[in-house]
Amino acid sequence: MTDPVRIAITGAAGQICYSMLFRIASGGMFGPKQPVALQLLEITPAMGVLEAVKMELDDCAFPLLSEVICTDDPKTALTNIDAALFVGAKPRGPGMERSDLLKDNGKIFSSLGKIMNEVANPDVKVCVVGNPANTNAYILKANAPNINPRNITALTRLDHNRAMSQLAGKVDCSVTDIEKMIIWGNHSTTQVPDISHCLVSGKAAPSLVDESWAQEDFIPTVAKRGAAVIAARGSSSAASAGNAVVDHMASWVNGTAEGDWTSMSVPSDGSYGIQEGLIYSYPVVCKNGDYEIVQGLEVSDFIAGKMKESEKELLEEAEAVKEMT
Ligand code: NAD
Ligand code: LMR
Repeated sequence: MTDPVRIAITGAAGQICYSMLFRIASGGMFGPKQPVALQLLEITPAMGVLEAVKMELDDCAFPLLSEVICTDDPKTALTNIDAALFVGAKPRGPGMERSDLLKDNGKIFSSLGKIMNEVANPDVKVCVVGNPANTNAYILKANAPNINPRNITALTRLDHNRAMSQLAGKVDCSVTDIEKMIIWGNHSTTQVPDISHCLVSGKAAPSLVDESWAQEDFIPTVAKRGAAVIAARGSSSAASAGNAVVDHMASWVNGTAEGDWTSMSVPSDGSYGIQEGLIYSYPVVCKNGDYEIVQGLEVSDFIAGKMKESEKELLEEAEAVKEMT
């Protein structure tokens, strides 16, 4: 019997996890042959709800689910793990920007970063979901110097998937016909969804749509989709966010399709002139459990200007949390 992959998941009694945990336990993240063990963390007042989530996981009799630990002790949750999904954090409500959450949520990431630094395997693969995701990952990384910094990533796969769906709708194709979508920058309204390198059934996407659609419709629709879901639903996206976390980790571990890439927020190594160390979304190719930022792509002046605006926002967020880093 293969050893289970051990995954710490914070905020496990919340909305995103209520859909995501069942996908992970049924093999959606690590594959149909890979057992998984879940180490679920919550704050003490939410332990009753977390027990109910465990009851439902038990009641699914998932063949791949080897163990579920429920705890309000971060050390217990973060010990002996292969992956950590940091979901636990306040969501925004109508009229708020994600960065308005920084003061409250940043503290969670400085404290969990220190504990992860003490108890976790240095090669643990981390995905930060709690908002503002990029700067929370930046705080986590600063507080966990023993952990391989390359492995501290944040979620922009939801934006990538949203972009795929918007383009597919526009040109009336299946998302499976689209390759080489890019989300550059921050998971915020300054993000840069970019179809410049996209292929639709092998044809260059920019030749299939008006430039004005790509710049004035597509980019703001994708960048503001989170707020549109909040306005329609009264609370932030949950099932699509959980699905994106499954996709993010599955691509990282199992690889991206031959000839294609995905978007992940990763520590910048200075690629495309972005300040080293910021957690910035790039196109990445994943292979053998690792990722590489795609190099050498031509970037138009329009996209380059927007990439700089998103970098500037991340620098301002980094400045705002400098006591935590
Ligand atoms: P939720 O309020 O339903 O659940 C959050 C859970 O986290 C709660 O159960 C809460 O008790 C728990 N929690 C709070 N502090 C904690 C701590 N210190 N340790 C462990 N658990 C803790 O919220 P949700 O809808 O599941 O969203 C969670 C976060 O994900 C929010 O910040 C939201 O904005 C963000 N989000 C990000 C993306 C993305 O694409 N990056 C997408 C959707 C939502
Ligand atoms: C999203 O993009 O749906 C999430 O980041 C939630 C939000 O606040 O928009």
